[in-house]
Amino acid sequence: MSRSKVVLAYSGGLDTSVAIRWLQDRSFDVVALTVDVGQPGDLGAIKDKAEKLGAKAYVIDARHELAEEYITPALKANAMYEGQYPLSTALARPLIGKHLVAVARREGAKFIAHGCTGKGNDQVRFDLCTTALAPDLQVIAPARVWNMTREQEIAWAKERDVPVPVGNGSPYSTDENLWGRSIECGVLEDPRIEPPEEVFDWTASPVEAPDEPVYVNVRFEAGKPVALDGRRADLVSVIAALNEVAGRHGVGRIDHVESRVVGIKSREVYECPAATVLMRAHQALEALVLPRDVLDFQRTVAARYATLIYDGLWFTPLREAFDAFIDSTQERVSGDVSVKLFKGSAIVVGRASPNSLYDHALATYSKGDRFRQEMAEGFIYVWGLPARTWAAVGEKAASPKLVKAAKRSK
Ligand code: ARG
Repeated sequence: MSRSKVVLAYSGGLDTSVAIRWLQDRSFDVVALTVDVGQPGDLGAIKDKAEKLGAKAYVIDARHELAEEYITPALKANAMYEGQYPLSTALARPLIGKHLVAVARREGAKFIAHGCTGKGNDQVRFDLCTTALAPDLQVIAPARVWNMTREQEIAWAKERDVPVPVGNGSPYSTDENLWGRSIECGVLEDPRIEPPEEVFDWTASPVEAPDEPVYVNVRFEAGKPVALDGRRADLVSVIAALNEVAGRHGVGRIDHVESRVVGIKSREVYECPAATVLMRAHQALEALVLPRDVLDFQRTVAARYATLIYDGLWFTPLREAFDAFIDSTQERVSGDVSVKLFKGSAIVVGRASPNSLYDHALATYSKGDRFRQEMAEGFIYVWGLPARTWAAVGEKAASPKLVKAAKRSK
């Protein structure tokens, strides 16, 4: 009988390495897929590790795809989950899921596997993504089934020649890509305790950051960053450069008690230097070029869009409909924004656009004022009509004479 083939999302870490063995023990031929989403580390070495474990291994560079097709729409939409988290991990999942499906098709595999546990969001995202793109494929999540504590898992790995990180690795679970770094577990599970400095890797402590601020200038075209400090660059390079400079200035640390899809509250720490700078810059540019009602409606869309990404609903008609709306609002979102980075803060200090709605002659209190102040009185008269009518009726109802008359007529 021919063995079944399974394509596993492989990070090279302990869980997914154990998953290779676990699947092989259950008579699967394992194909390990590592997707380069900008995480640090030697992906060649990860491929070797998978091959040593007896798997066929693929490494796919998807950094530009992540930037262009996932980060760009999220940035245009200002998508921040619960107003705080730029969705770095969440955005990479549908991309990885799409490649899992593609490799499964190429390999003729009927199964997809991932190393997620049954408590997190990532399982929801991988599973839903597979359901949406390839409902005929079946998902296996060994960590949902094997029921081992970390200690048991390490013992199991050692028995079966699965390499275990020296010193059994860090107490933290981390996930990294271009858009940010997530850190959970260990002492972070106590939300009362300040994250220790050791959890951070991309950002300097604001206390230790340089005493001089630095300014960065981002140019946007139709809502998308296209240049940094006057030099045109692809989005991957803009993000990488901003992660470096903003990280050096301590920008982008986030400490969030987050509402997971499965109902658990969890304490998550993030480092998202580039995302923090770009989100602020993008919103500042929108404030300059978009009318008030569009901005206001956009905030509602942003919140819904963020939840949709978080919940693993990327490959759905609602997301496509949101993208159509957002793309239309972004047509005029072009221009330059200056952001000052200083000891953990990223503050927009300047913005300019050929589509700016800012009219100095209307805004100024100095010479050159073209606003016709006398017209304001008539405007306020009409604008205030409902309030005046309401107040007048209220006064009548409260007058003692009328109250008495009303009682008598009962
Ligand atoms: N809580 C974040 C999210 O759901 C980050 C998850 C990090 N994942 C991980 N495997 N460490 O998007």
